[in-house]
Amino acid sequence: MRVLRWGAVVALCGAGAFWALTRPAPLPNTAFAPGNPEIGAEIFVAGGCSSCHAEKGSEGDDKLVLSGGRGFETPFGTFYAPNISPSQAGIGGWSDAEFVRAMQAGVSPDGKHYYPAFPYVAYANADAQDMVHLKAYIDTLPASDAINQEHELALPFRLRRGLGLWKRLYADKGWVMEPVEDPQLIRGRMLVEGLGHCGECHTPRDGFGGLKRDAWLTGAPNPSGAGRIPGITPSQLAWSEEDIAYYLETGFTPDFDTAGGSMAEVVENTALLSAEDRAAMAAYLKAVQ
Ligand code: HEC
Ligand code: HEC
Repeated sequence: MRVLRWGAVVALCGAGAFWALTRPAPLPNTAFAPGNPEIGAEIFVAGGCSSCHAEKGSEGDDKLVLSGGRGFETPFGTFYAPNISPSQAGIGGWSDAEFVRAMQAGVSPDGKHYYPAFPYVAYANADAQDMVHLKAYIDTLPASDAINQEHELALPFRLRRGLGLWKRLYADKGWVMEPVEDPQLIRGRMLVEGLGHCGECHTPRDGFGGLKRDAWLTGAPNPSGAGRIPGITPSQLAWSEEDIAYYLETGFTPDFDTAGGSMAEVVENTALLSAEDRAAMAAYLKAVQ
């Protein structure tokens, strides 16, 4: 009897600790300035939102219809990008604070954790006010009524609450390259480690799907099966800074091969950035350890 009672107490404490350790972050109580959609448009491109949230294979203006639906295969199951257009089926009606929390703390308006297939760990490094500008831009894009598709995950991964533990291990780690004083490198770091989430593909992951920060940008198996995603640290990529910037603009490698696979879509975004921004990313890649 006593044993049973103790068992119940221990189980309750365990549940309490689990509940406390996995508690989703509260809404930010910062006062934000009103969003500026012009600045937001640049953040949108740098963040590559349409590569995941527009329908697969869409081109031109269709890339601005953020109806979701695209699937991402991972070792944990298949994730589907949700509708983030400004409609009832998307994120219409969200407050700025709800959007900032979603983008940077990975928590939904109703207080649930998002899966890191949504690269909020990288976006957490961005400036919160820039997220408000981003929302102002998304609010100007077409509305879509597409209904979200449920992720197809193995049972333990279906429980979002447990992601709170994952976040304790892998989220809010800050910059990898630190300290940095050169303004160009600071910009490059924002674009590569933050908005551009380059590490999500180019850095290997451990068994829990967390990025191995000590092997930053050293290359990784391709999640969608075939081949490897190349390492892009200076010891692995012998290109000059100009070569890298040119590749991010045109997709051409120094030996006139073209960017393939998922990198082709990344280049569609980096091509739209300013020449200074591409140069900043190249400078970062030449400086990273
Ligand atoms: C690598 C693919 C990928 C990229 C890039 C990406 N997202 Fe997502 N996003 C996802 C996935 C997958 C989810 C679903 C996460 C979940 O259900 O836990 C998601 C969820 C969201 C949500 C929550 C939507 C909801 O209904 O609760 C918002 C908001 C969002 N993304 C906005 C953005 C914005 C803005 C950008 C660009 C800065 C962006 N995402 C870039 C894959 C991506
Ligand atoms: C969605 C996954 C993904 C993301 C995100 C991504 N890359 Fe890539 N990257 C790839 C793949 C795949 C290749 C190999 C392309 C090929 O085989 O043609 C590649 C190749 C490259 C190369 C050429 C390397 C070589 O040896 O050919 C560079 C440079 C590069 N990426 C830089 C970046 C930068 C900078 C970012 C962030 C703005 C980035 N990548 C984001 C998947 C990605």
